[in-house]
Formats: sequence, C-alpha cells, structure tokens
Amino acid sequence: MNLARFALTLTAALLSTSALAQEVTSPDGRIVATLTANGEGVPIYSVSFDGQPVIEESTIGFTFTDANPMRRGFEVVSEVESSSDTTWEQPWGERRYVVDRHNELAVTFRQNDVEARQMTVRMRVFDDGVGFRMEFPEQASLPVANIAEELTEFRIASDGEAWSIPAGDWNRYEYLYERTPISALSTVHTPVTMILENGTHLSFHEAALVDYSGMWLRRMEGTRLRAQLSPSPRGPKVVREGAFHTPWRTIQIGDGPDDLFNSSLILNLNEPNVLGDVSWFEPHTYIGIWWEMHLDESSWASGPNHGATTENAFRHIDFAAEHGFRGVLIEGWNVGWDGTWFGNGREFDFTQAYPDFDIEAIAAYARERGVRIIGHHETGGNIDVYERQLEDAMAFYERLGIDAVKTGYVADAGGVIASDGEGGETFVWHDGQEQVNHHLRVVQVAAEHRIAVNPHEPIKDTGLRRTYPNWVSREGARGAEYDAWGVPKNGPDHVPELIFTRMLSGPMDYTSGVFSLEGRGATAPDIPSTLARQLAFYIAIYSPIQMVADTPENLEAHPEALDFARRVGVDWHESMLLEGAVGEYAVIARQVREGETWFVGGVTDDQPRDVTIDLGFLYTDTEYVATIWEDGEGADGLGDNRHAMNVRTVTVRQGDTLDVHMARAGGFAIEIALSGE
Ligand code: NOJ
Ligand code: CA
Repeated sequence: MNLARFALTLTAALLSTSALAQEVTSPDGRIVATLTANGEGVPIYSVSFDGQPVIEESTIGFTFTDANPMRRGFEVVSEVESSSDTTWEQPWGERRYVVDRHNELAVTFRQNDVEARQMTVRMRVFDDGVGFRMEFPEQASLPVANIAEELTEFRIASDGEAWSIPAGDWNRYEYLYERTPISALSTVHTPVTMILENGTHLSFHEAALVDYSGMWLRRMEGTRLRAQLSPSPRGPKVVREGAFHTPWRTIQIGDGPDDLFNSSLILNLNEPNVLGDVSWFEPHTYIGIWWEMHLDESSWASGPNHGATTENAFRHIDFAAEHGFRGVLIEGWNVGWDGTWFGNGREFDFTQAYPDFDIEAIAAYARERGVRIIGHHETGGNIDVYERQLEDAMAFYERLGIDAVKTGYVADAGGVIASDGEGGETFVWHDGQEQVNHHLRVVQVAAEHRIAVNPHEPIKDTGLRRTYPNWVSREGARGAEYDAWGVPKNGPDHVPELIFTRMLSGPMDYTSGVFSLEGRGATAPDIPSTLARQLAFYIAIYSPIQMVADTPENLEAHPEALDFARRVGVDWHESMLLEGAVGEYAVIARQVREGETWFVGGVTDDQPRDVTIDLGFLYTDTEYVATIWEDGEGADGLGDNRHAMNVRTVTVRQGDTLDVHMARAGGFAIEIALSGE
C-alpha cells in the first residue's frame, strides 16, 4: 500500500442563510441527498441514486416525556459543507485498508417557539450510501433530553423485496429471515435489506450505537418506515444530558449485491481506534467443550455429566495443539449453572470454578502446549450480577493468560436484569440504552486487561470494532446452535440471507464446522447442508475468530475437512463478492492478510448451481495451486448423501477460470496458494 494515498482534504465553508446549498452529492455524483425544512418547518431529507428517487422527502424529529415535541416549526439557521478523502488501516478485518471518501452537509435547525431549541443534522454521502445523525448542543431549553421516541422516517420511493427479521419479539435477533414485499414489512430489526423495483439494492442500519437505544423500523403504511427505539422500563427510551448526538442512521445503496457486500460505510461512520496497539489480539480458529452440551451429551451444570472437567479440558487442549487451533472455549466451568440460570443468573460466580475443573492447572497446561483457553461469562441476562464482578472476573482471566472471552445474555427480550440504582432490580431490553452501555463497559474493562470480547445474545453490531478493536465478534443472529436443537434448523436460505443482511453490520461468531451434519437425536437427513458447505462458511461468514464447532471425534472422522479448517485464513487483506444474489447464493473471495494466498467460498440455497470463477484477481505471471473442497458426485444437502465431498488440486494462473458445482444446500471452499508454498 502506497502511504502517499493517505491523503486528507478537508474544506469547510460556513454559508450564509441566503445561499443555502441544502444538497450534498456523493464523490462519484451518483447519490444526491437533500436536507432542509418544509413549509411547516419540519426537518426533511431525501435521497436519489442516478437521478431516481430512493428516499422521498422524509421527516426527522423527536418526542419527549417531559417536553414539547421537536417536530415542526424549525428554520434553517446555518449550513456547513465539507469533504474528506482518507484511507485508514484496520488492525484486523475483512480488508486491511478502508477508503473513507465522502461529502458532508451539516444543517442547523432552530425551532421557532419560545424555547428556541436547536439541533444539527449531519449528513455524509459516500459512493456506497448515506449516513446522517442528529446532534443536540448543550442548551438551557433542553438540559436533559428524555426521548420518548425518535421520529426519523424512511419513505422508500418504490416497493420491492425485503429480507428482514421481526423486532420486539422474545428471541431477540435469532429468527429466520422473511422475504416479503417492502410494503408487507412489519416492525423489523436492522440491517434490513431491500431490492427496489428498479433493481437498486438498499440496506438500512445504524452506525456507532453509543449511549442510545437500538433502532427498529416500523412500517407506517405503504413503503413508509419510521424509527422505533427499543423500549425502556423508565418511560423515556433514551436519557441524555447536555450535548449529545444520535447514532448514524445509514442507508447503503448500490446497483447490486456486490455494492452492499463491499461497502465500508458502517465502519467509516465510526470513530477511529481509541485503544492504540491491539496486536495482542490474534485472529484465530478455536474448538470447544461446547457442541457436546448442545447435543445433550454433557451438561453445563455440575454432576456426573459435567462437560467442563479437568480431564475433558486436557483432551481438548491436546486436540487443539495437534491440529493447530489456537483456542479452546470451555463453557460451564464456573459456579452458577445448576438449576435455572437463563433469565436469572443470580448464582453466577465468575471467579469460582467447579471443583472438578482445575482452572489453574488447565490454563498452565494450555500455555505449555501453545494453546489459549477462551473464557466464558454466561450471565443468564443478569447484568447487575455481572457488572458487580466484572473487574475481578477480567483480572482473574488476565492472570491465567486468558485473552478472549465469550459472554452470553440468555434471557427473553425485555428480560435483562439490571440494577434499578436503589438496590433492586429492573428489567431492560437486549437492545435498549442500558444494555448498549453495558456492552461497551464490558469491552472497555476487558481492553484494560487485554482481553477480546465475543458477546452472544448481544447488542447488534454497529461498527464499534473500529473504535474498540477488542470487540472482535458477536452472535446477533441464528447461528449453528439451532442445527443442534429440536427446533426448525437453519434452512438452505439462511446463510445466503445472512451474508446480505446481518453480515453487513460486522463479524459474526456463527460457530461453523459441524462435520457430522447431525444435531441432537438426529434422524437422517438432519442438518440441511453438505460437508463442503460447512467449509464454505469459514469464508462466507466473516469473523476474526472462527469456531470449529463439532466434537473432536466428529472432526477426526472427516480428515479432509479438518485439514481445510486447519488451513483456512481468519484475517484478510481484501474481501470481495465475486457473484451472488440476496438470499440465494454467494461466491466470496478473500486474500489473507500476510502472504499471497486466496480463499474462495461459495454457498447456495435449495437450488443446485454451477459457477465459473474468474481468477482475474490473481497476480499476473504467477503460478498457483488451487485446492478445491467441493460437493462430490451425487451430493445433496437436503438428501441422504450430504457427506460426499471431492478434493482436487489444479494449477492456475490469472485469467484462468474454475468451474465448480454446488449441490442443493451445498457449497465449496478453495485455497489458492503460490505454487511451491
Ligand atoms: C447461547 C449461546 O449462543 C451458546 O453459544 C452458549 O453455548 C449458550 N448460550 C450457553 O451460554
Ligand atoms: Ca444464542
């Protein structure tokens, strides 16, 4: 990378109110956003793409529990325009260098009532979409903003198709995606992805969700959506004192699915790294004492069936050391799992191991074998109990050389137990302001102890890994655990849907690699997947930590697949979508961060597909060896022959093509390494 490209241009001009530009264009000129107040003084914005409306004039505003709404009667008092063109580097990620090129318009509105309250709407327009946020100055007329609701609207210019999961239901983000007309959406979580009638691809989300409630989108009528903030038991959904701003409301816009996949808009709208050097975090693959519990073969709880025993831990450490996996996750190691822990968590002790788990000896043995234990803090959704122990819990792990922790918040939506500040409990939402703040607190305390964090049942990702690069992954969607349980499994559409929805927000700890393709009490055919598809997930579903989820015995029973899991990269120089269609299939190429090796992965839905991969991305005049793990003869991810896998190698060069077949619910993985390496 040529450092000379790190150029920054910033121009700002304060315009007089008589020369209002009120329009801001993306650097490539294709996206145009407007921002002004209408005849009633309602702040409004609109967005177009190639001259076609995408968002028709839509309103921005707020209601409060103790003050008049900020909704209309505004006038524009000033405007500031600026632009930026920088390139910044990720310490780890799906790409090393990120270009941030945008134009900005910040419009300050004043409400012409007795209170004369002000707010600035800052709008940034990139080639891959738009972000805007509302900024409140410190003002005597609104010393504390007790926000009842945010009224930001998105009036989508036409109908089309949408992929969404419901918001406000008990299972948080863990739902299968629904494909519906935009005009049939209910209240949904973001990211929600759409294809308009003219083919324009859109995804709505938010960036830098800090000290605020998560935003859902509620359909008012037709294709008009409105923000709905996650609830709070307090009355106001958000309470902020003094100057503050909302998260960025984001709209990723492009011609096709590759524009969504390749977009860095969410990261670009986050603040730079505040932790400094985080080279102590090493992207890695890991195994765990985990799948066996989900299969009901062992338990988190203590007793004769306990999974987290010293002996079992040693066995897993040996397996990880032999096969080159850095991490071993061990769940159910600490006191508190006996009885009903979910939605409760009152008994959890994060520094006390069960007596049959000699954590000191286990951590020492792991260090000796060059492996790291991955810590586990399941809270049962009790952040009151967890926060009281947080500092001690992280210090305990640091002392043992444990540098990554998986946290968990198993409680129904609205059932997170927080302190009411008076010695009692109050019940909050997984995506409300309290929980948003809790997650960041955990990440900050963990960072002080040089520990990376991977929350399950988390707050959605809004790109804060840029600011806090120890926030390395999270769940926040239906992961592989659903394939273990006696509930509808993740169908063949699920991963092709995740790639263009949830994954636009950031890394996911999907916990791939169920080589047995069997869940609890399996009757064949069980998990809808071929074996090759399980390998494809490592490339298709980005995370800097990747679990190889199955039990050691099951992994060893599939040596060719295990060999791939050992070889696959986890940190990337570049990533790109080669081809795909939202919810149907995806072929993704990623180049490793260090070295010249590429990996290509493909997944399909319930349709078999033949793809021709153009190797134009390879260096010229260089010979590579491609190793291909593909669906074998007669493989069928929805039938009896799910394990048929063919492994072949071919010599390739730039300009060659590779033909690969994917079975129903199938996939493939390819490693392309320099010849002779
Ligand atoms: C749900 C998590 O997603 C899963 O990975 C974990 O094993 C259980 N909670 C128990 O903490
Ligand atoms: Ca979960």
